[in-house]
Amino acid sequence: YFLRPWIFLRGAPSMKFLPPEGPPEVAFAGRSNVGKSSLINALLAQKGLARTSNTPGRTQELNFFVPDGYSGAEGDMPPIALIDMPGYGFAKAPKAQVDAWTELVFSYLRGRVTLKRVFLLIDARHGIKKNDEEVMDLLDKAAVSYQVVLTKADKIKPPAVARLVEETHGRLKKRPAAFPELVATSSEKGLGIEDLRAAIHRAVEG
Ligand code: GTP
Ligand code: MG
Repeated sequence: YFLRPWIFLRGAPSMKFLPPEGPPEVAFAGRSNVGKSSLINALLAQKGLARTSNTPGRTQELNFFVPDGYSGAEGDMPPIALIDMPGYGFAKAPKAQVDAWTELVFSYLRGRVTLKRVFLLIDARHGIKKNDEEVMDLLDKAAVSYQVVLTKADKIKPPAVARLVEETHGRLKKRPAAFPELVATSSEKGLGIEDLRAAIHRAVEG
């Protein structure tokens, strides 16, 4: 499905606007500005499909993307949906706003039956932060499979990426719902994108 064009299906500002559960879903979660929307564009090779920005807090809804060409009627469901999520941990937005986004993200992650895997994006320069741990706690508790993806790997030297991969492996060992493999990516340079496509295939087919 990465060979065909994709479309933006719907943005859900709250749980009641979610599309009905249908195709297997793969969601991209992570702190504000970690590169979720950029990674989706790199995966789909469609610049500008998911809106990106230098300013944290760009994505404000759960945005659903599907391969083009399906009616959505029963028997003509897309084989997969990718979900771009609002980021968490953005201190500068108004508190009510941050709370609403966090609530939306957490509700979706906890309760979505068709959610096959969450890709949890971590900035390769910063590593896992406290609010990433909270999201992992929630996913472990809800038994939702997740896989860590390091982003912006082009911003640090390869040995530093390798060190962070090692360290992160260690931290994931004790976590029951964490997928043991980890992918280092750069949306800018195309690094790790093919590996991530393969991981998505396995998550959806398996
Ligand atoms: P929110 O929607 O605000 O939570 O952010 P996001 O996680 O969707 O991040 P977004 O994709 O909008 O990217 C944030 C900034 O990081 C943008 O300025 C991107 O150009 C930049 N960026 C994203 N991925 C990469 C990458 O792989 N390398 C580099 N150097 N910059 C990147
Ligand atoms: Mg975004």
